[in-house]
Amino acid sequence: MLRGRVDGNAASGRVRRFVVVGQTASASGDFSIEDLPSSGGRIDVLLRCVRAALLVSHGVRREVIVYLVLRGSARAPRVLRISGHDAQFLRPDERSLALLVKKALAVPTLSGAGSFVDVKPGLSVAEGDVECVLADAAGATAYCLAEDGLDLREEALDAADNLFLLGDHLGLDAATRRRLSALPCRVVSVGPMSLHSDDVVTLVTNELDRRSAG
Ligand SMILES: C[S@@+](CC[C@H](N)C(=O)[O-])C[C@H]1O[C@@H](n2cnc3c(N)ncnc32)[C@H](O)[C@@H]1O
Repeated sequence: MLRGRVDGNAASGRVRRFVVVGQTASASGDFSIEDLPSSGGRIDVLLRCVRAALLVSHGVRREVIVYLVLRGSARAPRVLRISGHDAQFLRPDERSLALLVKKALAVPTLSGAGSFVDVKPGLSVAEGDVECVLADAAGATAYCLAEDGLDLREEALDAADNLFLLGDHLGLDAATRRRLSALPCRVVSVGPMSLHSDDVVTLVTNELDRRSAG
């Protein structure tokens, strides 16, 4: 069952996008559910971000879109996009999410580089890297999450479409940070400690929830 606030945000047309860059996360789906961290190139880190961004207690945030940038394996780079608006069978446990992602990545995608191809309801795959995300989210207000950024709480965060980019256990690489610095993209921090990626997603989400409740 969906909560009113969740539906309310979706109905208001506001969009929240999270991009997690997985430096080693498998783009092939050829990983073992029994051993996600090593066989999936730490795809478990990204799956926890999916849960934190998209799921609430007994519901899905319909206004949230998550992009997983997958840079591991011979199939890389690819981007998996998960849209809360249409996604089905999203469950909070890592195993179920891993199975969903594994099946989505196994669907043949014959697109040209850069275009998202629907592989399951709410799940699409593009052959490419962060550039695919920036093209897909053109017009969104971009923020790069980094420990050394400006305080997120000081930001207006009032755009109808916000895009938050963050790194995995290895952090955001220098080339990606350089690419983002060429955009209008504020570098923001959620606090003084270096946190796990999913915790950062939770803190950003909570800040946005508080703003929209105000
Ligand atoms: C586990 S941290 C990466 C740590 C990695 N050793 C590094 O030095 O970048 C994962 C990601 O979460 C985000 N992050 C972690 N702590 C943060 C903070 N306090 N504020 C904003 N983003 C943060 C950054 O995007 C970071 O790349």
